[in-house]
Amino acid sequence: MRTRLVMGNWKMNGDLQANQALLSTIVRTVQAEPSIYQKGQIVVCPPFPYLAQAAQSLVDSSVELGAQDVSVATSGAYTGEVSASMLKDFACQWVIVGHSERRAYHGESSEVVAEKAKVAMTNGLTPVVCVGESLSEREAGRTLAIIDEQLKPVLALGSAVLAKLVIAYEPVWAIGTGLTATPEQAQEVHAFIRGQLTAAGVGHVQILYGGSVKANNAKSLFAMPDIDGALVGGAALNAEEFLAIAAA
Ligand code: G3P
Repeated sequence: MRTRLVMGNWKMNGDLQANQALLSTIVRTVQAEPSIYQKGQIVVCPPFPYLAQAAQSLVDSSVELGAQDVSVATSGAYTGEVSASMLKDFACQWVIVGHSERRAYHGESSEVVAEKAKVAMTNGLTPVVCVGESLSEREAGRTLAIIDEQLKPVLALGSAVLAKLVIAYEPVWAIGTGLTATPEQAQEVHAFIRGQLTAAGVGHVQILYGGSVKANNAKSLFAMPDIDGALVGGAALNAEEFLAIAAA
């Protein structure tokens, strides 16, 4: 049985005051209604400077902390980078790698993404590896070929690493656009990913869907057999909306 996982990717949003309000509502609600919110795992991923703030708010909470990226390097002269051990220092247990915004704006290749997943795993973090096709790739009928290409270096990491990661399918055309993939479109890709993972001996790995997940579409997405939860962007900045997705 795969556990359900709902992660909030705050991206480059928030400030001390807004974060405090968001975190305290989430923590309070999750604690008050364990039968609803503690059946699965909830994770929040704030920007790096706010990890310490979030870590403090989440002490004694079942809600866990994640980061949005990690360096492939472990330490040294890498200006602007943040290492996996630094994330561990701030109580992170999770890290998103290979988000399409990192691939698009920071030139991250699938090989670099796989390396980041490995470094994260080696340092005791659970990597959440994002894959997804663009609109033109979907329209050209290349969705599964693109996912296959993006997964290849990750699958090559071997079952010891693979057993401990999470895959997030985020079609680029659905991110921040309000255009959610239909449950059937998402399921088709999730089933393909599940097939690849099963062939690699890790069929139990969780596969999240991301891309305009909201309170009003979460239930139908989560009803699909290979969708194990969500990686939520915009809706994760609103406590009520995020909690409603987690409840679904
Ligand atoms: O990582 C989450 C993501 O990219 C989806 O963003 O705003 O469409 O939910 P959003």
